[in-house]
Amino acid sequence: MSEIAISLRNVSKCFKRYERPVDRLKELLLPGKSRADEFWALRDINLEVPKGQALGIVGRNGSGKSTLLQIIVRTITPTTGEVRVNGRISALLELGSGFNPEFTGRQNVFFNGQLLGLERKHIEAKFDEIAAFADISDFMEQPVKTYSSGMFVRLAFAVAISVEPDIFIVDEALAVGDEAFQRKCFGRIQALQERGVTILFVSHSAPSVIGLCRSAVLLDKGEDLLVATPKTVISNYQKLIYAPVDEAEKIRENIRNGKHFIKNEKNEILLEASQEELEYKTSSQTKNDDFYETYDPNLIPKSTLSYVSCGAFIEKPYVTTIEGRRVNFLKRRKEYIYTYSVKFLEKIHRVRFGMVIKTIEGFELGGAASHTIDKPIEYVDKGKELQVKFRFSCYLQPGVYFLNAGVLGRLNHSEVFIHRLVDAAMFRVHPEESDTSRSGYVDFCVESQILSFNCVVEE
Ligand SMILES: Nc1ncnc2c1ncn2[C@@H]1O[C@H](COP(=O)(O)OP(=O)(O)OP(=O)(O)O)[C@@H](O)[C@H]1O
Ligand SMILES: [Mg+2]
Repeated sequence: MSEIAISLRNVSKCFKRYERPVDRLKELLLPGKSRADEFWALRDINLEVPKGQALGIVGRNGSGKSTLLQIIVRTITPTTGEVRVNGRISALLELGSGFNPEFTGRQNVFFNGQLLGLERKHIEAKFDEIAAFADISDFMEQPVKTYSSGMFVRLAFAVAISVEPDIFIVDEALAVGDEAFQRKCFGRIQALQERGVTILFVSHSAPSVIGLCRSAVLLDKGEDLLVATPKTVISNYQKLIYAPVDEAEKIRENIRNGKHFIKNEKNEILLEASQEELEYKTSSQTKNDDFYETYDPNLIPKSTLSYVSCGAFIEKPYVTTIEGRRVNFLKRRKEYIYTYSVKFLEKIHRVRFGMVIKTIEGFELGGAASHTIDKPIEYVDKGKELQVKFRFSCYLQPGVYFLNAGVLGRLNHSEVFIHRLVDAAMFRVHPEESDTSRSGYVDFCVESQILSFNCVVEE
């Protein structure tokens, strides 16, 4: 147990919902007959989070994410099941919890800090640091009810981070901070992670979950549908949210069946990248010049995910040289063409085509659409097949990259994906020489220059 920070066994939560507030009162006064509807916000959740792991929690609105966090921090008791927490928790839950709107920022630092288990002395010693992090200047002396939601989250985060927790929990709150503040918070969370703090992170932002977490859980209608790498969880989550209503149950069933817990001999859950991801990670930088601009039939994505079609199908995605030769080993700084075909099974209005290039972790590096949203192709007839070509420059560092493909069109007065392929194609960019001086993903064509001067050095 000591290596597990959080363990949930068969945890369920049933809320009672009353049609009228007076029914709740009647039930209290006249016990016996229940006047409530039962609503199961969580059903039979099993989860173990090893110490030091960052777990993302992903799911639609109302899927039970906040309820789960509140059960872990013990502001809600589960209806059934067992919860064990090993270590001191600091949590940044939904806006407003743990703050008194009538108190000033300064008073709330003490009020909230004490709720989080800090002694007054400790808060006094940390106050300047907290105020500096929140960086809301004079508003510190104003009542919190006058704050913008961004200011509020600045203060709440500053207090939560000052606790020096073993387990740090963030529920979406950061999304309301501005970009600079979000960067600062992510920096702090990463620093906590390096110190071995366990992190639970609820977010709808795919890049944040992928960037921060090592594993993720997909909650849907109170059920833990999938525990896997963030990339797998996010792509399945997106598949689910874009699914037409009548297909959703089938998709849910498929995800549920693919649910995988990889355990070690001590029965601890290990969540590893798929074999494919690992293979390409380890071998992506080893080949030499001879491999430029070739096609390896084995370098094809095994993670291709086809969304439910709403009237068109994307097929045959591939990359070629400008001359039209098929390749998946690309040379840096050259131009290539990404091609796919689309068969239209229905007449679709206001059509656009899209592409995205992503890293192996699923982080979107950039993309483009064939048309702007105000000047799409007016319509494409049923039975047509179109070939879409995107010419792009390969300003990427050596490594493996994935491509998405998408057809957008108008259905029920809004623009939706008519069809989408995630990880439709992949390619590898080769190093030109034994080049270890580069980093990151994007090749900015940096050239360095060193100038030499004499300077006076005092002894
Ligand atoms: N105190 C309560 N009484 C009754 N129902 C509740 C209560 N708290 C939450 N629920 C219901 O439980 C379900 C899960 O709510 P929860 O807040 O956990 O969802 P969530 O995944 O955090 O959603 P969001 O993405 O919108 O934050 C919702 O249907 C919600 O209406
Ligand atoms: Mg929530």
